[in-house]
Amino acid sequence: MSESVSGPSTPSRKRSKWETNDDDVDEGPSLRPPPPKRRLKPKQSRASELSQAPSRSESPTSSHSQSRLSQSVFVPPRTFHPPFIPSRSVYCYERLNSIEEGSYGIVFRAKDKQTGDIVALKKLKLDEEKQGFPITALREINALMACRHDNVVGVREVVVGETLTQVFIVMDFIEHDLKTLLTVMPNPFLQSEIKTLMLQLLSAVAHCHSNWILHRDLKTSNLLMNNRGTIKVADFGLARRYGDPVGVGGMTQLVVTLWYRAPEILLGAKTYSTAVDMWSVGCIFAELLLKEPLFQAKSEIELISMIFKLLGPPANNSWPEYPNLPLAKTITLPSPQPNQFRQKFQYMTAAGLDLLMSLLTYDPDRRISAEEALQHPYFSESPLPKHPDMFASFPSAAAGERRRKPFNSPSAPMRAADNLLLADVDAP
Ligand SMILES: Nc1ncnc2c1ncn2[C@@H]1O[C@H](COP(=O)(O)OP(=O)(O)OP(=O)(O)O)[C@@H](O)[C@H]1O
Ligand SMILES: [Mg+2]
Repeated sequence: MSESVSGPSTPSRKRSKWETNDDDVDEGPSLRPPPPKRRLKPKQSRASELSQAPSRSESPTSSHSQSRLSQSVFVPPRTFHPPFIPSRSVYCYERLNSIEEGSYGIVFRAKDKQTGDIVALKKLKLDEEKQGFPITALREINALMACRHDNVVGVREVVVGETLTQVFIVMDFIEHDLKTLLTVMPNPFLQSEIKTLMLQLLSAVAHCHSNWILHRDLKTSNLLMNNRGTIKVADFGLARRYGDPVGVGGMTQLVVTLWYRAPEILLGAKTYSTAVDMWSVGCIFAELLLKEPLFQAKSEIELISMIFKLLGPPANNSWPEYPNLPLAKTITLPSPQPNQFRQKFQYMTAAGLDLLMSLLTYDPDRRISAEEALQHPYFSESPLPKHPDMFASFPSAAAGERRRKPFNSPSAPMRAADNLLLADVDAP
């Protein structure tokens, strides 16, 4: 059937040649893209022409003050902008194997043909886009770059395939994700190991928050771990800046994968902040202790009742704002009952339990921050955090060393169009 009959196709649904070809011979024209033409003598921009124009009030020798005068106080000089360099081709990498297909992209393991480095390439799913490059993809790249940290996955570059709908984020390859690892490792993590992992996670989250970025999808499958005992927070696909005034519609509630979603989002809060990530950190802490997710609910209402059961229903003193939340009136609160932390986490010390309860605190204003949690006495009591070098290493499923299907957790919520504020993609 001709294309005019079947209608316009969605280009990125078609796999790119890079994803399907096995040999180097037929890599297509993008294999060796023609080098960008270099201008030997850069053309003088209007701004620099202006900045060199003689000023009547200044002495002709004072070029610095001349350029300051000729520029708007609101626009930085052109030299302050990063240089524009064209993205490299995906054919600079040799595809090794596919790792995982998530909700927003397919992730491949690949080898840099120049350096031999093993990397991970996340192909962004751009098929639904009808209005150019999606803002959510820009946001993911931008947030990853704004949050560079030892415990955040390192982003190397963005490369393109044959068409502009084939965009790949190139990251350092990390051997495991915690969700898969928890299902394949024979024994649960030791307390000393959980402390190290929590300290790393908290320091990454504190770093993101201090850079005005909310992650909004913290969960074990988005925490990568290498064979040297280091955690790297990944998947900034739902991340956004916070701190700017919020639009009339409020912030989207379609964030954070269900099991890790904070109660204020579940109950329809129009604005929320760093505390939503801290709730997810609490769920991850519990998952490391239990070796399975804490709230394995099938629906929002089931999740709310599971939370009420573990924590006891919210009361006026534990969450004064609760009655004002949009969905609070639709929920019948069970009769007051004490929380069940002690029964659920029988082998935890009092300090460990206190940290968990501080993370899983109803009132977002009272929920512990990442900076505060890093100072919690749990981390200084015995057993002390284990040095990362002392962690055992495991075969990497992502590198094809062994593969087993982990438990099925719900997928990340669909991205909503509230996020179309261009301001969100600005670096903080
Ligand atoms: N840098 C990396 N190194 C190794 N594996 C990775 C890397 N990045 C991602 N992965 C693997 O790919 C999976 C999916 O990646 P990611 O979470 O970024 O995509 P996603 O489409 O947003 O996923 P989802 O919506 O399911 O959370 C991860 O859970 C992990 O197993
Ligand atoms: Mg993910």
